[in-house]
Amino acid sequence: MRKPIIAGNWKMYKTGSEAKTLAAGIVEKVQKVQEVQIVLCPPFTALGAVAEAIKGSNIELGAQNCHFEDKGAFTGEISTAFLIDAGCKYVIIGHSERRQYFAEDDALINKKIKRAQASGLIPIFCIGETLLERQKEQTFDVLRRQVLHGLQEISATDPERLIIAYEPVWAIGTGVTATKEQAQEAHRYIRDLLAGLWGSETAERIRIQYGGSVKPDNVAELMAQDDIDGALVGGASLDADSFAKIVGF
Ligand code: PGA
Repeated sequence: MRKPIIAGNWKMYKTGSEAKTLAAGIVEKVQKVQEVQIVLCPPFTALGAVAEAIKGSNIELGAQNCHFEDKGAFTGEISTAFLIDAGCKYVIIGHSERRQYFAEDDALINKKIKRAQASGLIPIFCIGETLLERQKEQTFDVLRRQVLHGLQEISATDPERLIIAYEPVWAIGTGVTATKEQAQEAHRYIRDLLAGLWGSETAERIRIQYGGSVKPDNVAELMAQDDIDGALVGGASLDADSFAKIVGF
């Protein structure tokens, strides 16, 4: 059985002290939850404060990005070793905002996934089509390209060490979520792609999160779908109450 995993992507919000308050609020509200894995992904500068706030709790730490080399002259970049040192277990890779605003392509994302796995972090690998691509009925083509290129030369020897997040770009931050049918259809397609790469036994064990305007009032029907194993939550993760409600779906 795949254990659901719900992650909060705080994006470029929250200073260290704001993050500490938010994390402490979440810790208090979700402390009884056992059947869902919970991850917080604050900005780099707040990782320390959040690590401290979640110490000893049922919440784990993740980052929003990393560099693909282990060290070197890369001014302004953050290595996976820094993230591990800060207490991270997960790292979001290939978020659509990074693809869109920072020109991250499938090849770069592939390098980052490899680096993350080699250093012991679990990548949360984001994929998803734009509105135009969906309107042109290219959703499956885009997902196939992103999955096959992003995961090139990666072996899933341990299916627990890779998480996929299906995030239709048109649903991110828009308040428009994919219907449960649209989401399930995409998740099934992604799982079939994974089965093509590594066999169905492995594919059945890899968790696929849904992301894009997940809120307390739509999370339950999404999570009820066969192939939806969690959520990557942006806006609604910035409030302890709404994030806790999502976790408690
Ligand atoms: P949203 O963001 O929940 O605000 O739509 C999701 C994400 O970007 O991961």
